[in-house]
Amino acid sequence: MVTVHLIAAARPNFMKVAPLMHALQGQDWCRVALVHTGQHYDAAMSDAFFRDLRLSAPDVNLGVGSGSHAAQTAGVMLAYEKLCQQNRPDWTVVVGDVNSTMACAITASKMGIRVAHLEAGLRSRDRSMPEEINRLVTDAVADLLWTPSPDADENLRAEGVPEERIRRVGNIMIDSYELLRDRIAAAGAPARMGLKGGAYGVLTLHRPANVDTEDSLRQHLNAVCAVAKRLPLVFPVHPRTRARLEAFGLLDALRRAEGMHLTDPLGYIEFMSLVRDSRLVVTDSGGIQEETTCLHIPCLTLRENTERPITVTLGTNRLVRCEELEARVDDVLEGRWPHGQVPELWDGHTACRVAQSLRDAAG
Ligand code: UD1
Repeated sequence: MVTVHLIAAARPNFMKVAPLMHALQGQDWCRVALVHTGQHYDAAMSDAFFRDLRLSAPDVNLGVGSGSHAAQTAGVMLAYEKLCQQNRPDWTVVVGDVNSTMACAITASKMGIRVAHLEAGLRSRDRSMPEEINRLVTDAVADLLWTPSPDADENLRAEGVPEERIRRVGNIMIDSYELLRDRIAAAGAPARMGLKGGAYGVLTLHRPANVDTEDSLRQHLNAVCAVAKRLPLVFPVHPRTRARLEAFGLLDALRRAEGMHLTDPLGYIEFMSLVRDSRLVVTDSGGIQEETTCLHIPCLTLRENTERPITVTLGTNRLVRCEELEARVDDVLEGRWPHGQVPELWDGHTACRVAQSLRDAAG
């Protein structure tokens, strides 16, 4: 029996962990424990996703919480090392690129526990992004690297990762969407907010580079408020962004801005119901660039680079600067936007391929 720790930590992880947890729970060759590091802890950032994605409660919650990068990373490492001393798995499976991903990968690797990374090989080549450091370090210590796309395979080869460690499995987040497709279609989130399908956009904004300084946050708010006057925007506000809006005294004006609908962070089903029926999405998130490509929804990404270039070369995603946001929104509204193609293996069956690959590697 192969023992596996599956690590979950922060909101974007849960959509990646859920399909794999479901797939591994049904196998007779492995025993899987779900380990939540506690990086995200609010009901809206964590519990809501467990409920929507039908994830059973974590077997262990390390309860690490928020902190500086060093404090959070160190907190996860200390807590996870203790867990592995008491209950050592054969494999530690980490997903995505958050601080907990890197922290658990380093800890396990130094204890001689094999590490597998799901969503390996993505690179923005921008080391000012904390996630880029997390990706580089995690992939450097991982024994098995599951990638979503050919560009990720290429990045790993260029960094000298041996070919036999790389397995292209596709995009696991799409498994979550497929699992809940019917419930998402029936959720009716736009109508509940008084919005008509195709007549609004969805906005998310939480990258430190965009929201942490007053100048940058003001610049982004000016750009999105100009858009909201022409196309109503639903804006579920991330806790990091809310804290900055409050600190800079910008929240009240934003609440009053014409066409802007602020909400608390939304659960997975509610959020995807909004995205699915939207005219466009404006975002600085990573995963949403992929979800919109699969749904053929135009995605305007307020970033200078992306670790997910296939969403630009094949899909519906474009990198946009604040100054050009309005003009790009015009392009969408006037039909000048590609329908896009869904990349190979983004088909809802990634979890099966991952489970098979783990079985092969463990056997
Ligand atoms: C983290 C990830 C980022 C991911 C994002 C998705 C890293 C480096 N960053 O960023 O890649 O895109 O999650 O949400 O791992 N907070 C709460 N409640 C919570 C969690 C956080 O109020 O449940 C607040 C705290 O004030 C915290 C701040 O949000 O200080 C930021 O949280 P943190 O986990 O440090 O980073 P995120 O910005 O969420």
